[in-house]
Amino acid sequence: MNKQYKIPLFRDYPKLEKQLPYVSLATLPTPVERLEEIGDQLGLKNLYIKRDDLSGAVYGGNKVRKLEFLLGNILRSNSKQVITLGFAGSNHALATAIYAQQLGLRSVSLLMPQVNAHYVRRNLLASQYYNAKLCHYRNITIMSLGIISQFIKGKIKDGVFPRFIPAGGSCPLGVIGYVNAAMELKDQIIAGKLPEPDLIYVPLGSMGTSAGLMLGIKAVGLKTRVIPIRVIEQKMASPKQMLRLISQTQSLLRELDPAFTCVRFSKDDLYIRNDCLGKGYAHFTEKAVIAADIIKRKTGIILNGTYSAKAFSAIFDDADRKILNGKTVLFWNTYNSRDLSKITAGIDYHNLPKEFHWYFEEDVQPLDKGKG
Ligand SMILES: Cc1ncc(COP(=O)(O)O)c(C=O)c1O
Repeated sequence: MNKQYKIPLFRDYPKLEKQLPYVSLATLPTPVERLEEIGDQLGLKNLYIKRDDLSGAVYGGNKVRKLEFLLGNILRSNSKQVITLGFAGSNHALATAIYAQQLGLRSVSLLMPQVNAHYVRRNLLASQYYNAKLCHYRNITIMSLGIISQFIKGKIKDGVFPRFIPAGGSCPLGVIGYVNAAMELKDQIIAGKLPEPDLIYVPLGSMGTSAGLMLGIKAVGLKTRVIPIRVIEQKMASPKQMLRLISQTQSLLRELDPAFTCVRFSKDDLYIRNDCLGKGYAHFTEKAVIAADIIKRKTGIILNGTYSAKAFSAIFDDADRKILNGKTVLFWNTYNSRDLSKITAGIDYHNLPKEFHWYFEEDVQPLDKGKG
């Protein structure tokens, strides 16, 4: 990050800067660009992209903003190890491994099975490169026991318990990263980089990105509506759970600095778009693959079939339905675009725990052409 740059959350709320744990990891602010050609194709004069894919020099995507607070918090303790969890291809687990190692912490990733895809292979190999200890668990119940066992092992090794980061980094402290991102967007609007968006399209997984954007956008007085595109099943992300996450995050911020704007949310604010999920989490859809192909051809940006491509495909759908006419639309790109191929080329999958070998030995899902 530019050393002169102070994140807007700390610029506007100096008390928060004194109190919140934080370590600078991200390259901020991330650029905003106009997607002119694709906008023309869709009949949208004002289609923009927020390049959070470039949020980190080594690894970008939406996890870096959350980790600045979450790993900052671990650095304040005397723990030496971080435990986190996700599905086998978790971008969050990989980001945690990379930035934990950068900060001198060890990491453990507890991973559950998912549909096979090229990015799963890439993320597993890269996690191995960054020395994450990878553990496979068949389901959440067995994983819960695994968490306890990893905590005990960590304590025996270090004399101090490891620290835990929940799936996707989506706890109030992590969500603050996206409250700040909304403030960053407001700065970019004021600076004339884009008009105030009517709509932001963003993938919804563990909910932290959408929750932080929704809270931040209201707090800075923008009228923009966030459209979270569901990429995970209902039981893992619901409007009720999202409301809880937003209000816990707001409470944390106001506890630390009562000057932080108090905003209220109604049920209408918490609309989640359900029609892009397809067969389920990590199952690519035809529409998402087409949308990803178009942006790759026109701009070189690579989207991910599990997350960002599904969110981008919702813009194509809505443009087709003519409900975006005259609107300013911002696509929030949450998927890393830093190239990991040199790193992963040197890693042999046989060095991974054997439960992960099948991702390399069996075919990926038919719609996955290896681009994202
Ligand atoms: C690339 C990408 N986009 C979007 C998301 C969803 O963000 P969140 O979990 O904050 O809802 C994730 C989460 O894992 C992700 O890896």
